[in-house]
Amino acid sequence: MLTIQNLKSKIAESPYQAYVYSYPHKTAYRPLTPPVHLPELWAQQDRQALFLYIHIPFCEMRCGFCNLFTTVSHNEDFMSQYVRTLQRQAQRMKAVLGDASFARFAIGGGTPTQLPIQHLETILNIAESTMGAKLLEIPISVEVSPETATEDKLKLLRSHAVDRVSIGVQSFIDSEVLATQRRQSTTQVEATLTRIKEMGFPTLNIDLIYGLPGQTVNTWLQSIQATLRFQPEEIYLYPLYVRSLTGLGRTDREWDDIRLACYREGRSLLLSEGYTQVSMRMFRRLEEGQGSNLSPSSPVYCCQADGMIGLGCGARSYTNTLHYSNEYAVGAKGISEILQAYIQTADESFEYAHYGFQLNAEEQRRRYILLSLLSDEGLNCASYRQQFGSEVYADFPEFSELLALNLAIKDEDILQLTEFGIERSDTIGAWLFSEKVQELMQDYELK
Ligand SMILES: C[S@@+](CC[C@H](N)C(=O)[O-])C[C@H]1O[C@@H](n2cnc3c(N)ncnc32)[C@H](O)[C@@H]1O
Ligand code: SF4
Repeated sequence: MLTIQNLKSKIAESPYQAYVYSYPHKTAYRPLTPPVHLPELWAQQDRQALFLYIHIPFCEMRCGFCNLFTTVSHNEDFMSQYVRTLQRQAQRMKAVLGDASFARFAIGGGTPTQLPIQHLETILNIAESTMGAKLLEIPISVEVSPETATEDKLKLLRSHAVDRVSIGVQSFIDSEVLATQRRQSTTQVEATLTRIKEMGFPTLNIDLIYGLPGQTVNTWLQSIQATLRFQPEEIYLYPLYVRSLTGLGRTDREWDDIRLACYREGRSLLLSEGYTQVSMRMFRRLEEGQGSNLSPSSPVYCCQADGMIGLGCGARSYTNTLHYSNEYAVGAKGISEILQAYIQTADESFEYAHYGFQLNAEEQRRRYILLSLLSDEGLNCASYRQQFGSEVYADFPEFSELLALNLAIKDEDILQLTEFGIERSDTIGAWLFSEKVQELMQDYELK
């Protein structure tokens, strides 16, 4: 059981422990023995509002900070093989799912726009024709980078009703970008952003990173000001995280102080510019009448409760009881081996989950709590009761410590993080991990 001492001492440590964006983390996944037969698994799951995610693990460069599953050592031939494998996997998965509807679709990476245009088109067709996603009716998001978001590819995305483009900029200061081994010039970034704006995508998201080598609070604010000139509907402010096997490294207290100062100043600036804070990293500006493709009859995806179908080598899939994916690596050799194995996967093998994490009743509750609490929705205790048939404070008595430490406040049935709590989201997230997940993550050997 977690204790107040535990949370109190954790709060005194660095606020930057681990980026908690899903639960459990992929490093808690293990080989499933025996493998799980997917038709039976998915037959148990409500399939009327699924999230379809397609993962493209290719980039034009390997940024020094990046710990995502992606590679630069690829050629056109390999990318064609990858897309053909995706097609095979999609056909099998469609048969596995049977009657299903998709409420959202995203193409992520890596950098999806690194694919040659004909392959990008094939990916959109896989979603629409093979999987049956109604692209005109559901929100669709695609990740792009400044160098690869060319006019023809953006036009293609727009003509397939993509309504959100998310671009990694990281910084508008050339020297800061250079220090991360990212090949990108601010002139090019500005040209790409102008192009995206001109094409009229309803939602533009811009990613920025704070805590970069050579960055100060002043240069950070300059980057945010430069971002604001393009009036993005969404902005993500990521604290730089460094992991072993990624290029950059620093662990001192001074770095924490810089990141905390950047977070606070950046947040204030965005709030003063009319953005609302959705989570520690995400800020949104919703104008009247602006919105996604969502048609009134479309199902609405709820990330705490609904399933996700991941296609592609680095994608995860979720049902209520099982999270699964391929194996995970960050180093070039590990990634290349996993990719080779993916393109050689036999069709029948796509009907099985070989690697993942089974969520028992407690883990399902933890996941629900984590995803709710770390967003501006907060944790709705009545919805929790409806979902699990139990009381959140009886299930997790340690929750009262969040209130005692001024990390959360309670308003009727909703528990929400305070300003201080949002700032400590990554600590609170990690504190909510079960002992089992913590142990698995610690024992995981990063490849
Ligand atoms: C898939 S990338 C975005 C699209 C594209 N690949 C690009 O970089 O332009 C996702 C985002 O995660 C963030 N990110 C990746 N690794 C990070 C790290 N170690 N620390 C902080 N942010 C990170 C970056 O802001 C990046 O834009
Ligand atoms: S930040 Fe983006 S472009 Fe850079 S390596 Fe990661 S996924 Fe690729």
